[in-house]
Amino acid sequence: MPETKLIDGFPYIKHEKPVLPDAEAVTLSQSFYEKMDTRRSVREFSDRAVPRALIENILKTASTAPSGAHKQPWTFCVIENPEIKKQIRIAAEEEEYESYESRMSSEWLDDLKPLGTDWKKPFLEIAPYLIVVFRRIYEFGPDGKKKNNYYVQESVGLASGFLLAAIHNAGLVSLTHTPSPMNFLSKLLERPENEKPFLLIPVGYPAADCWVPDLGRKELAEMAKFY
Ligand SMILES: Cc1cc2nc3c(=O)[nH]c(=O)nc-3n(C[C@H](O)[C@H](O)[C@H](O)COP(=O)(O)O)c2cc1C
Repeated sequence: MPETKLIDGFPYIKHEKPVLPDAEAVTLSQSFYEKMDTRRSVREFSDRAVPRALIENILKTASTAPSGAHKQPWTFCVIENPEIKKQIRIAAEEEEYESYESRMSSEWLDDLKPLGTDWKKPFLEIAPYLIVVFRRIYEFGPDGKKKNNYYVQESVGLASGFLLAAIHNAGLVSLTHTPSPMNFLSKLLERPENEKPFLLIPVGYPAADCWVPDLGRKELAEMAKFY
């Protein structure tokens, strides 16, 4: 058990993190990078079942993310019920049809061409789990008054990143999906007014014959500047 004490009346625990030898740290960071570099967004899923325990651990990992004033302004809705998945697919495809047919600019459609996406989203029914990430704009205090959360977008983005990394680490695949606008998710899942949909993430195993676009990633010199 870590040492504890009060500072200004608030509880603290001693944070002890072993300092690794430099060479070991470099090796570890290299292998973590190599593992993360194999993460891909997948649009062809298998219907193979995923143990609930995996999903629970993934969600607990996501919720270790830092957040503004530690408000943890997120709710993860996990859907495995086939009827609800079907309703989500129908509603998502309606929005996506409109987007692809009339809402997206030709520049946007051109940018999407190499990814081979269109309005059809069969994976929303095939993947064993859908995780819908909601951002919580405010909370209700004990007096019933609204209390704003801070840096909600940033915090939920970070938690979603942790979520995707945990999914990948568990040997599963996912898609970061944004069938815009996403209000239909609030209605279908009967979420309260203080929650807004952020991402829709199918999770599962890839289909036996799964293909992903051959995309490169920016080199270090293109995406980082050292001062
Ligand atoms: C915020 C965000 C929204 C995205 N929305 C969609 C989407 O609606 N549909 C889709 O097929 N992919 C979507 N993607 C996935 C991207 O196309 C994908 O991350 C990108 O092509 C890079 O591929 P990779 O994830 O395999 O590295 C989204 C990604 C992000 C970060």
